[in-house]
Amino acid sequence: MPSEADKYPKVAQLKSVDSLRARLAELNATLPLDDAIETAADGSPLAQPIEVGGFRVGNRWCIHPMEGWDANRDGSPSDYTLRRWRNFGRSGAKLIWGGEAAAVQPSGRANPNQTLATPENKRGLAELLEECRAGHREQTGTLDGLLVGLQLTHSGRFCKPADHAKWAPKIAYHHPLLDEKFKIDPADATCVWTDDELEVLIDDYVAAARLAYDVGYQFVDVKACHGYLLHEFLSSRTRPGKFGGDLDGRSRVLFTVIDRIRSEIPGLMIGVRLSVFDTIPYRTSREVGQPMEYQQLLPYGFGFGVDECDPMKFDLSEPIELMRRLVAHGVAIINLTCGSPYYVPHIQRPAIFPPSDGYQPPEDPLVSVWRQMESVRQCKAALPHLPLVGSGYSYLQDYLPHAAQGAVRSGWVDFVGLGRMVLSYPELPHDCLAEGKLKRKLVCRTFSDCTTAPRHGLISGCYPLDEYYKRLPEREQLTAIKQKLNEE
Ligand SMILES: Cc1cc2nc3c(=O)[nH]c(=O)nc-3n(C[C@H](O)[C@H](O)[C@H](O)COP(=O)(O)O)c2cc1C
Ligand code: SF4
Repeated sequence: MPSEADKYPKVAQLKSVDSLRARLAELNATLPLDDAIETAADGSPLAQPIEVGGFRVGNRWCIHPMEGWDANRDGSPSDYTLRRWRNFGRSGAKLIWGGEAAAVQPSGRANPNQTLATPENKRGLAELLEECRAGHREQTGTLDGLLVGLQLTHSGRFCKPADHAKWAPKIAYHHPLLDEKFKIDPADATCVWTDDELEVLIDDYVAAARLAYDVGYQFVDVKACHGYLLHEFLSSRTRPGKFGGDLDGRSRVLFTVIDRIRSEIPGLMIGVRLSVFDTIPYRTSREVGQPMEYQQLLPYGFGFGVDECDPMKFDLSEPIELMRRLVAHGVAIINLTCGSPYYVPHIQRPAIFPPSDGYQPPEDPLVSVWRQMESVRQCKAALPHLPLVGSGYSYLQDYLPHAAQGAVRSGWVDFVGLGRMVLSYPELPHDCLAEGKLKRKLVCRTFSDCTTAPRHGLISGCYPLDEYYKRLPEREQLTAIKQKLNEE
């Protein structure tokens, strides 16, 4: 893709925290930024323990779930998967949020190499947990204060269980824009879940949670984000019957899963990763991103956390109501994210270099980071006692720790989650807490290769910066793919 990268000042070229502050002020996107990275010994707010569901988590760093498209075809972990989980543990973060999305049904996988949370992979799930813990012990010398969960998913509209190139969607309802974008026949009823099929799915979520509990995970994340099934249900206003319509109906699958886990596995903590806002799906292109045509759909009833009259803006009233209900149903912690990597990557994974199925950034990615942090701030203000994890920090690059400290110190968020940054620089939390400085050459520069590679059937990883991935033959394949795309 031709790059629009020069349009916005690069974060790596902002010479000081003050220059980032000045740029944010120009963008009307103020963030709390500390002046310097503090170690645990300095009293960093990120080193402070916090109670979650009766467990004292040792610090405020969280590792987000990051799948690698690299499990074996039977859903068990490969060496790549195990290495990634070991790195998650080595990070020094005390909250490992789910590791990666693990599918509760083989047909619910987003790719044929997705990890499975089914009985056949019980041993694999145990190995992943052990690897993560071993990495953590190696880095920090102790497992004290470490909380590890497993993320449970069904990919819904984005299922590709058998072939990296072939969608096999199983959707909550027909969405006029997403059907068009992903070439789903709006008259095809066979790809819509029936209520009876959902009862089986709910059983499978509960079985997967039991499996996670049996092998030692301390919590499960009933994933409701990124356009996958349980997120899609939250906007299923046009779906008839008990799993659609009003908020009660739209959240019924989610709450039924949660209530059953609580009553059948009372010792297992429950978290939810939630896309707290969304926007209109964008067109894939090599130009600056443009939303699909939506004027004819106003008031817009096809989003969750969007303003129906102006769906390019977020509206957190329903998401906050949903979160209140989640707390009432015993959910201990919520990890906030937004949108979907399939139809609005710029809001979800702010990047200066877009993935191959994206588009050039329609705004300075700093604004996209600010939007995620600001939405979390508003949720925290509405629900001060609910522990919240924030997402979308990687684009802050060298200044990520300054914003992380500032956000926790100012009460904007309880935990700062790392996504892409942990692929390029797993030890960042440890380096901050122990040394108060970063290894700049490992800082993620949002090249998006970790997203572009799996879009072309390759395993994901940080090809530009991680020596291990740099040496793989897949790196050459990826370079060739990107060159071809640039020539088109
Ligand atoms: C390669 C890759 C894999 C991801 N896999 C998952 C996943 O399995 N589950 C999930 O909830 N989010 C997943 N995400 C999203 C991240 O958890 C995170 O929300 C996102 O990258 C934004 O955070 P960041 O700015 O720190 O990267 C993935 C992101 C990337 C780049
Ligand atoms: S490939 Fe590496 S540098 Fe690029 S976005 Fe992913 S983690 Fe960051």
